[in-house]
Amino acid sequence: MSTKSTKARHKRFDGHGNVRIDGHPRWRLICCTCGAMSKALNTHNSPHALVKKFEQLGWEVPDVVVYPTGGGTGLVGIWKALEELEQLGWIGSRRPRMIAVQTEGCAPIVRAFEKGLDHAPAVENARTKISGLRVPAAVADSIMLGLIRRSGGTALTVSDDEALEGMREIASSEGVFAAPEGGAVWAGIKKLVDRKAIDPDERVVLMNTGTGLKYGELVSFEFPVVDRVGS
Ligand SMILES: Cc1ncc(COP(=O)(O)O)c(C=O)c1O
Repeated sequence: MSTKSTKARHKRFDGHGNVRIDGHPRWRLICCTCGAMSKALNTHNSPHALVKKFEQLGWEVPDVVVYPTGGGTGLVGIWKALEELEQLGWIGSRRPRMIAVQTEGCAPIVRAFEKGLDHAPAVENARTKISGLRVPAAVADSIMLGLIRRSGGTALTVSDDEALEGMREIASSEGVFAAPEGGAVWAGIKKLVDRKAIDPDERVVLMNTGTGLKYGELVSFEFPVVDRVGS
């Protein structure tokens, strides 16, 4: 079973309202994107995860939130959640710098951000192994670009290899088998620290949006071979 199919089935099983568009050659991708959308708009998964994180931080708004960005529903949902928390009086008007991470082979938001555009033209021939980030045309492009700029944030790319290496580093340092989207965020934050765009004292929330279990084919497991002892 392919990764995209696994993700789509998981989301369907979770009760998300995914649809298959008959005859569309990329229906699996559409399912995944719909799943992320329903996640952000209906059940508020990413914003919910962020609210839980705020609670752990004693309701202190972090300085930076880094999100693996596809269609944008996660980033927009998180921003909306922040507005709702302010309306509830749980946080003030301060906002984290919102940072979008995409892959080099599919980075419409990063390219539009760098060019100062308000809309993100669709990417032709999008190529990335990381299916959650293979979104050549983002539905929420202008909203995302607006909130990234308003928050003083940024948008940057990482390569697929850097994201996969990030996945490995999260596993070995945190014991979490993160999705490669989470690995991309990890690789992105390392670049930002190197560029001194993030101060080591700042509070940074990295959003990992899935489990590596859905990406078995991207992870190679090489086991050391030892000589058999005895009979
Ligand atoms: C695991 C995962 N992470 C991140 C994304 C991108 O999220 P968004 O479309 O909300 O920007 C997706 C989208 O499908 C996804 O499946």
